[in-house]
Amino acid sequence: MALLIMLVGEDPEPWKSVLSRLDPSLDIRVWPQVGDVEDIVFALVWNHPRGELRKYPNLKCIASMGAGVDHIIRDPELPAGVPVTRIVHESLTRSMTEYVIHAVLDHCRDMEKYRRDQAGKIWDPKFPRPRKEVGVGVMGLGELGAAAAIGLVELGYRVLGWSRTPKAISGVQTFWGMEQFSHFLSQTDILVCLLPLTPQTEGILNLETFRKLRPGAFLINVARGRHLIEEDLIVALDQGILSGARLDVFEVEPLPPEHPFWDHPKVQITPHVSSLTEPEAVAPQILENYERVLRGLEPVNQVDLQRGY
Ligand code: NAP
Ligand code: GLV
Repeated sequence: MALLIMLVGEDPEPWKSVLSRLDPSLDIRVWPQVGDVEDIVFALVWNHPRGELRKYPNLKCIASMGAGVDHIIRDPELPAGVPVTRIVHESLTRSMTEYVIHAVLDHCRDMEKYRRDQAGKIWDPKFPRPRKEVGVGVMGLGELGAAAAIGLVELGYRVLGWSRTPKAISGVQTFWGMEQFSHFLSQTDILVCLLPLTPQTEGILNLETFRKLRPGAFLINVARGRHLIEEDLIVALDQGILSGARLDVFEVEPLPPEHPFWDHPKVQITPHVSSLTEPEAVAPQILENYERVLRGLEPVNQVDLQRGY
C-alpha cells in the first residue's frame, strides 16, 4: 500500500520529507516514478494530468493539495466512487484573511496613489473614507470567505456577504442565491471573490456584474482566474466602471508576459500567493485521511462532487 504524491508545477520534496518524518513506515511514491500502480491507495494531487487517476485500480481517496478542488473535478475521466478531499486548515484561513485585509486597507488608504505620488515627488495628503461607509462585499461565505468577512467587520467596514444558501454571521449583512445577487452588488464598493470554481460561478465576474456595483468599485479576486472574464475587466477599468483590481489568480498561470494585465495602471498582480498550503502545517491532515481510508473510514474534509466544492 502506497501514498502517491502527484503535484504538477509544485515541489513534491517538502511533502515527501514531512510525511516520511511523521510516519517513517509510509511507502511514498512521487509521480511519475509510481512503480506498481496496484500499490497506490491514496493520491495527493495538484493539477494532475487528465485521465491519470484512472490508472490506479485500488485508489481509495484523492486529496487536493489545496482548498480548491476544481483542478480535480474538471477531469472528465475521474475514477467513479473515489472520495475527493480538500485542505481546511487555520493556516490557510489566516493567510487568506490577512491578504484580503491587506488589499482592502491598501486600497482604502490610497496606498497605490501614494506610491505613484512618490514616483513624481508629489505631496498630496487625502482623508480616507470612513470605514463604516465603505461596503465590502464578499462572494462565498465558506471557510475562507466567512473568516475574511469577520476580519473586515472587526476593522469597522460595512461588510456584506453572498453565498448559495442562507448564512448568519455576526456583523455581516448576508445575501444568498441569484435572486439576491444584484441587491448585494448594489451596496458594494469593494468586491472580494472567494467562491469555488463551478459551472455556476465560472465567469461570474463580468461586465454585467461590475455595472451593478457602486460606481468606481474595486475588485479583489483571490479565488480562481476563471471566475473573471478578463476582457470585461479591462473594459470596466478603462471606462471607469471599476477603479482598480487586485488579482491573485488568472485564467492562465503563470500569467504570460504579453498579458495586458501586467502593464495596466489599475491592475495589481500577485502570483497566486494569497493563501499557500504549508506542507508542515497540513501534512497531519493528509496522513489522518490516509490512515482513515486504510481502516475503511470516510476521509474528513470530503467535497460534494455533485455540488463541485
Ligand atoms: P468553501 O468553504 O467550500 O466555501 C465556498 C462558499 O462559496 C460557500 O459559502 C458557498 O455557499 C459559496 N458558493 C458556492 N457556489 C455558490 C454559488 N453558485 N453562488 C453563491 N455562493 C456560492 O470554500 P473555501 O475553503 O472558502 O475556498 C473558496 C475558494 O478559494 C476555493 O475553492 C479556491 O478556489 C480558492 N482559494 C484560493 C487560494 C489562493 O491562494 N488564491 C487559496 C485557497 C483557496 P454555501 O455555503 O451556501 O454552499
Ligand atoms: C489554492 O489556490 C487553493 O485552492 O488552496
